[in-house]
Amino acid sequence: MMRHLVVPNHEVEAVLGHIRAREWGAFSFRVFSSKDGKSRLIPLNPNSPTVLPGELSKYPIEFHKGVLDERIETNWLSLLLQEIDQDVIDSKSEAWPSNHEFIGDMIIVKIDKSVEEYTDSIARAKLGVHPHVRLILADDGVQGEFRIRNLRPIGARLSGRILTGPSLDLAPPEILSTKVSLKESGRVIRCDPTRAYFSTKLQTERLETLSLAKELRNRLDRPIRVADPFCGVGPALAPLLNEADLVNDLLATDLNPDAVELLFENLSKWDRRPYPKNSISVERLHNNRIVGLADATKLENYSEIRSNWDLLIINLPHRTIEYLPYLIPLLDRTGPTMIRGRVIVEESEIFNTNEKINKLLPPLLSGKPKPSLMIKRDYSPSLRLCSFQAWIAPE
Ligand SMILES: C[S@@+](CC[C@H](N)C(=O)[O-])C[C@H]1O[C@@H](n2cnc3c(N)ncnc32)[C@H](O)[C@@H]1O
Repeated sequence: MMRHLVVPNHEVEAVLGHIRAREWGAFSFRVFSSKDGKSRLIPLNPNSPTVLPGELSKYPIEFHKGVLDERIETNWLSLLLQEIDQDVIDSKSEAWPSNHEFIGDMIIVKIDKSVEEYTDSIARAKLGVHPHVRLILADDGVQGEFRIRNLRPIGARLSGRILTGPSLDLAPPEILSTKVSLKESGRVIRCDPTRAYFSTKLQTERLETLSLAKELRNRLDRPIRVADPFCGVGPALAPLLNEADLVNDLLATDLNPDAVELLFENLSKWDRRPYPKNSISVERLHNNRIVGLADATKLENYSEIRSNWDLLIINLPHRTIEYLPYLIPLLDRTGPTMIRGRVIVEESEIFNTNEKINKLLPPLLSGKPKPSLMIKRDYSPSLRLCSFQAWIAPE
């Protein structure tokens, strides 16, 4: 018997994205319909948490026999076997990219150096088992201050044929386009991971931020003012804006002009109001929207922005601690406020980093726990990607 998450039909796509991003699904097994046809049952793998966090905790869990999916990704290795000797596959067993990330109709895989020479075969096998995928890209890491992914097309589908290697040069540009739409928390997000940071792996984080934002709204007894000064294309804002009466004023800024351009495209759909086509410097574009291009460390110098926000989202994990002193002045300290941040840190340094964060923060709201880093996943063998939340007391 295996655990299945019971999700109403209209929420399945969003929940599946979230489950895939955390690798909690048992994707050798099929999603199937409930007896009344109103829900779908998503198979969970044994490594998924017993109690799923955040918004996912609201869905019931049922035990059923798993229904094997013949077409699934575990089969990609059998497609690989049609091109590569079993001995070679066995000798490099750990190196084959068993994980991947779906972004829209693209798959992103990390190709280990030791299997680099088999890249074309990997691309063909992955595209072979995922017929809905148009493009497969190799992930060569995140680079620069804009945290843009270095992505290399390694395979594409053109009129039912799979192109790899030199034949990719002949592919029409639209087949190789990395600008895609995906649905998360009921909103369509436009993104292009080669131009602006985007990761589906942060869905859990975004859902947790949503729960915290609701808690803050309940405490303040009014819609909250949210500042996201490293907003990228705006994915953290999607679930917040999808919630009725949660967000009033919004500050959404980023240093990357391409991210701001995509943010405008997203906000114009989410808000159903016009935004510029190209990125512009930060300004008030609507009565409750201050958006645009800005260096987050300079925002405190704008009188309209300083001391004005209830929830501050800090998602630049390698710089959070360095930038905290420039960002704290954005909070409206006349009432309780919250900082939701992410930090990359050596596992052995977590205790010291907690001390550092607590020293930098203003006095905390009584009755709330001291901020402490929660490990979310490995960033490298020794580094951990963590998040924290801090409830700040009024001045
Ligand atoms: C890790 S990404 C997070 C993006 C977005 N919040 C998300 O969750 O997808 C960090 C973002 O910070 C932006 N950034 C880096 N330095 C910045 C700065 N000094 N001021 C404003 N944005 C900055 C990058 O361009 C990037 O979009």
